[in-house]
Amino acid sequence: MSEVPLFKVTIDNITVEVPAGTSILEAARKIGGDVAPPAMCFYSKLKGSGGKCRTCLVEVNKGSEKDPRPMPKLVASCRTTVMDGMEVKNITSPKVIDARAGVVEFLLLNHPLDCPICDQAGECHLQDLSYEHGKEGTRYEFQRRTFKKHDLGPYIQLHMTRCIMCFRCVYTADQLTNKREHGVLDRGDHAEIATFIEKSLDNDFIGNVIDVCPVGALTDKTFRFKNRVWFLKPLNAHRDCPKCSGKVTLWNRGDEVYRVTARKDEWGEVEEWICNDCRFEKKQTSDWVIEGPREISRQSVISQGHYAGTVGTVLPTETFEAVNAGRQPHLLLDIHDVSKVNKPEVQLSAINGPSHSNNFKD
Ligand code: SF4
Ligand code: FES
Repeated sequence: MSEVPLFKVTIDNITVEVPAGTSILEAARKIGGDVAPPAMCFYSKLKGSGGKCRTCLVEVNKGSEKDPRPMPKLVASCRTTVMDGMEVKNITSPKVIDARAGVVEFLLLNHPLDCPICDQAGECHLQDLSYEHGKEGTRYEFQRRTFKKHDLGPYIQLHMTRCIMCFRCVYTADQLTNKREHGVLDRGDHAEIATFIEKSLDNDFIGNVIDVCPVGALTDKTFRFKNRVWFLKPLNAHRDCPKCSGKVTLWNRGDEVYRVTARKDEWGEVEEWICNDCRFEKKQTSDWVIEGPREISRQSVISQGHYAGTVGTVLPTETFEAVNAGRQPHLLLDIHDVSKVNKPEVQLSAINGPSHSNNFKD
C-alpha cells in the first residue's frame, strides 16, 4: 500500500505538516488557537458536512510550491484541501476579517436576538462569532422569517427561527439512525428543518441532533428554561449502558443533575455519540459514576469561576513583591499621604460593622 505523502502548509506564518487530502481547516486545527477558523457547519464526525455557512473563509496567497499563484477569491477552508507549499492567511488577513464580519451579519439577518432567553446562550457558536466579528447594528429592514411551530415530541424543541441551515442535524440523523426520515424542506429563503424530523424522533440516538446544533434551534426539552449553563458544574461521568458508551458530561447544581450531554472536544464537537436513555432518562446522580470535573476549554463563560476551568481560576504565580523588584506595596503609595479622608489612627478592621463618614468626622 502506498503511503500518503506529507504536505507542508503555512497558516498565519506557522508551518505544519499534514497528510495529503487534509483540509485547510483541519490543518489549522492542528496548530490550534485563533489560527483555526470558526466553523458553523463543518463537523469532522459527519461525512459530507461543511461548505454551507462560509464562516471558515481564508485567503490562500500561495497555491502550492509548483503553482505559487494566489487563489483569486477567499475559499471555504473546510472544503479546500492543502497543497504542498501552500500559504494561507486567516487572522492575519484583513480581507478575511472583513468577509467574516459580512458572513456574521448575513447569518444574523433572520436570527432573533433572543440570547437572554435562549437555552443555548453561553455555549452558542453564533453568539461567540457575533461577539468576535459582529456589528452593533443591522442594515436589514425587513421582517425576520417566521415559521409554523412543529412539535417534535417530549425531548427535542425546535426553534426554526434560530436555525442557520447548517445541515448538521440532517447529517446526524442520516448517519446515526438507520431509518432517516428528515431533511430540509423547500428552498432558499423558505428552506426549513421541519415535520420529517418528528418521525425520526423514535430513534435511540436522535438526541444527538441537540449537541451538533451550533445555535439554539434544537434544544433539550427536559432542560429547557431550568437553568443557565454557566451556573452549572460540568462533570465527567459514565454508566454501564447497553446502547452507547455511557460516557457523558453531567451538568449539576449541587447534587441535582439538570442536563446530560455528550462530551465535547475543544472545537465543540461530540467525542462519542450517546443514546436517548443516557441523555434524557438518567437524571439522578446515583445513576452515574462520577469521574470528576470536566474542563470546558472553549466556552469561557462556563469555565469562568469554575474549579476546573481555564479562565478565571488560574491564580497568578507571581506576587506583587516579585514583579516590583522586592518593593512592598505600601512603599509605593501610602493612602494617608494623598488622602485627608482616611485617618491613620482609625483602624477599619476594629470597627464593628461597615465604616461610614462618622468614623472620620473631625
Ligand atoms: S436545526 Fe440546528 S443543526 Fe439543524 S440545520 Fe438548523 S442550525 Fe443546523
Ligand atoms: S464551516 Fe466551512 S463553510 Fe461552514
